[in-house]
Amino acid sequence: MSTKEHQGPLIVAIGGGKGGVGKSVVAANLAVAMARHGARVIAVDGDLGSANLHTLFAIDRPGITLRALFEGEVKALQEVAIPTKEPRLSLIPGNVALPGSANLMHSRKLKLIRHVRKLDADAVVLDCGAGVHFNVVDLYNAADARLLVATPQLVSLQNAYGFTKAAIYRQLKYVCRGQAETDALAACMTHSETERMQQLLERVAQKEPGLASAIRQQLAHFGLTLLGNQVGDRKELNPIHALSRMVGDFLSIEVPVVGALRRSGRIHYSVTAREPFLSDTPGDIESRVLKVLARSYLELDRQAVRAKRTRPADSARPSPEQAEKKVPGPDPDLPASISIYQRAHERIEVVWPVALEVEGCRYGAQVRDVSRGGARLIWGGQVRAGSPISLHFERLPDRPCLKGRVAHVRPDGLGVEFDLNTPDEVLDALMARAAEQAAEAEVA
Ligand SMILES: Nc1ncnc2c1ncn2[C@@H]1O[C@H](COP(=O)(O)OP(=O)(O)O)[C@@H](O)[C@H]1O
Ligand SMILES: [Mg+2]
Repeated sequence: MSTKEHQGPLIVAIGGGKGGVGKSVVAANLAVAMARHGARVIAVDGDLGSANLHTLFAIDRPGITLRALFEGEVKALQEVAIPTKEPRLSLIPGNVALPGSANLMHSRKLKLIRHVRKLDADAVVLDCGAGVHFNVVDLYNAADARLLVATPQLVSLQNAYGFTKAAIYRQLKYVCRGQAETDALAACMTHSETERMQQLLERVAQKEPGLASAIRQQLAHFGLTLLGNQVGDRKELNPIHALSRMVGDFLSIEVPVVGALRRSGRIHYSVTAREPFLSDTPGDIESRVLKVLARSYLELDRQAVRAKRTRPADSARPSPEQAEKKVPGPDPDLPASISIYQRAHERIEVVWPVALEVEGCRYGAQVRDVSRGGARLIWGGQVRAGSPISLHFERLPDRPCLKGRVAHVRPDGLGVEFDLNTPDEVLDALMARAAEQAAEAEVA
């Protein structure tokens, strides 16, 4: 048995909170992309409420479903896997037309998670259902990596946020070690919708510093990425980025936007035709996004990912039932209206040369978009996330200089956050200039 097999499959969960955003389409095509990359893949329909992953693979009525595992008809989940037309890819269909199957019993859910981890495959793509029910969230949290799918529509963004919040808060309960920590966490939870994770952590740190740092570790390694779907044009990417920033600000987890799939007749038609849309056609951006994603997942060191998410010496951890009882769930409401959030950080595309100052040296860079919160730069140099920087806008009137820090580093450049105490007048002038330039560009 190879080391990889011994570790169990890499599990990637697809979630998003709302039905109809494209979780299943993404799950099916990501699984195909992984299989075409050479991996042995099993797609699992974990949407226990409305299982339909099989239809995307042109399977009308699966002869066997997850139900067989729950009813004890099979010993191992592996026996439920049926082949698809795609080499190396099999499918574990969900319960079809079984009323109430979304309300999976706790013991059945744990059994499902246990069995998924033992599947004989390189990777498992787990299509999670909609909603914030513990069953959905626990399946999602059991994975090694999570892909959040959201469309630019407000309801989808709200649900994606609510779903992420539910998943994170649920995870915190399992971090607690012993009754004292569980009680401390429960006591620190408020139901204020504007509560930031940071505030909760500060209160926890006063009572149980060990717990606070264990939670920080969980947050840092939650392994969540965001994929926009049904995006109409470049402008519609803004709400997706707004969601990413909002999750970062309120829930203290980094959720990079890994890409976006456009709203396309071809994808829509692929569902009707019951075939994956993934192709090798040059210029097929949607397929390329999923292929890059598939490759990056397959390259993940799952052992390292799991080690980072495990709190050492967890023998005194409360049972799941204990944890469930003691700690209240999060307030499902949004901390701020995402539309306000989006407006507050509206990005304007620009092409501005700028001098980037890092560790006392100045480099030439180009600003590609700017908001009141920060900017995106194209720069070929190397810098670490979190490093303090200054941006000298020498070609703009007044030649403003803004200080901030590197928020994230991407292969093609950086995201920069401006200092919170940047004077409003400076930001006003900067945004006014950007808006002017955008208007000029539109006229041209
Ligand atoms: N990028 C896209 N372009 C066009 N239509 C899409 C796209 N993604 C999804 N759809 C449509 O949305 C429907 C719902 O997708 P599905 O994956 O079943 O959603 P979910 O699993 O989140 O409920 C699909 O039947 C398909 O017609
Ligand atoms: Mg679905």
